[in-house]
Amino acid sequence: MPLMNWDSSLDVGVDKMNDEHQQILSLMNHIYDAREAVRSGPDVIALVDRLGQVTIDHFRDEEAYMELIGYAGIASHKLIHKDLLDKFTGYASDIKGSGGQVP
Ligand SMILES: [Fe+2]
Repeated sequence: MPLMNWDSSLDVGVDKMNDEHQQILSLMNHIYDAREAVRSGPDVIALVDRLGQVTIDHFRDEEAYMELIGYAGIASHKLIHKDLLDKFTGYASDIKGSGGQVP
């Protein structure tokens, strides 16, 4: 059972952002499935690495889009992205350090 499914309530009205959000959710669900199945190892680490890269790319794209449309909240949103990436880096480091076990 997935952690979270994408549905129309998550539609931000921009196809590229919706696609990227769906990619992120899919990877999160795969990692969640691994945790539920008590799976670990290189495959799980690869999923975590992929999630990190997709998220970094997404935040870059999202910030570029916010610049493009002159979004007033861009500065605070960038801080949210930075905070999330910092937290993700910590979680990813823990998972890699334990051989791919998702706590
Ligand atoms: Fe986003």
